[in-house]
Amino acid sequence: MYTKGFISGAVIIGAAAAQQTAWGQCGGSGWTGPTTCVSGYTCTYSNDWYSQCLPGAAGTTTKTTTTTTRAATTTTAASNPTPTLYLCGDSTMAKSGANDGSTDGWGNQVAKYFTGITVNNQAIGGRSARSYTREGRFNTVIGLVKAGDFVVIEFGHNDGGSLTSTDNGRTDCPGTGSETCPVTYNGVAETVLTFSAYLEKAANALKAKGAIVILSSQTPNNPWEGVTTFPSTSNPVRFVPYTETSASRTGTTYVNHWLYSMDLYKRLGASATNAVYPKDHTHTSPTGADHMARSFIKGLQCSSNALKNKINASAASVVSGSCL
Ligand SMILES: *[C@@H]1O[C@H](CO)[C@@H](O)[C@H](O)[C@H]1NC(C)=O
Repeated sequence: MYTKGFISGAVIIGAAAAQQTAWGQCGGSGWTGPTTCVSGYTCTYSNDWYSQCLPGAAGTTTKTTTTTTRAATTTTAASNPTPTLYLCGDSTMAKSGANDGSTDGWGNQVAKYFTGITVNNQAIGGRSARSYTREGRFNTVIGLVKAGDFVVIEFGHNDGGSLTSTDNGRTDCPGTGSETCPVTYNGVAETVLTFSAYLEKAANALKAKGAIVILSSQTPNNPWEGVTTFPSTSNPVRFVPYTETSASRTGTTYVNHWLYSMDLYKRLGASATNAVYPKDHTHTSPTGADHMARSFIKGLQCSSNALKNKINASAASVVSGSCL
């Protein structure tokens, strides 16, 4: 027993000695990870809960974090008169959708429903929670956000599949916790985490910078494809409940974008819904992207997140349905 404890202690010390990657966390109350940064980056104090590896040579001021005991319950948004809404997601959120000339993502349609906030759409086609993480895209947003900014994270379309066949660089490790899967992708060894772990790491790092995070479930594939009776909504694709669980674990807002979209499509009916899927059952036309933007706005309106205060009058007339 005693030896075991000693060994695990030594492992923690070993981990702390590694250098943090660009834009990563390198300090803060309760932080047990690396406290020095890779070459070209300096660990910079942000607040008592967060220090970050920012570009710049070493030799600048090293600020010692003071250990304070403050209530961890505060959820009040830092006052930020000119907030930005960052969007992290895949082609269903990205500008120009699947980049095929006929599709669009909802992140490119949503800005007209807000006033007093700048939308910065960082969604990119083909990405999963895993590849968005590995490519440093969450770290880019973590580097950009200021206290009082908002971030919507929405993944799932590219997260499925199996790691046992050829790894596509996108599939996550099965499970919803701290499970890991060792793989080699593009000749590089990679420890693949679960969908939940990727979402929660990003959400926690963003929260540490004072951002207000919304975890949004993925959009559905065309539910009217090949059917005459609208399908049941009781068994969504697994990334929908996974997203809800991660929101509850990280104390962030959950928007069930999937369910609000299903509700809208049910009311639209088969032909109007089929008409917004020009290529396949995943990517929508600009009109479909606008439907998805409005179903997100509806879910947001029904939440208690402060972002709903930025919804403007133009949304009121086009967002229908009731809170689910
Ligand atoms: C809603 O906000 C958008 C973008 O800020 C703006 O273009 C539009 O005029 C606003 N509409 C209303 C009715 O406030």
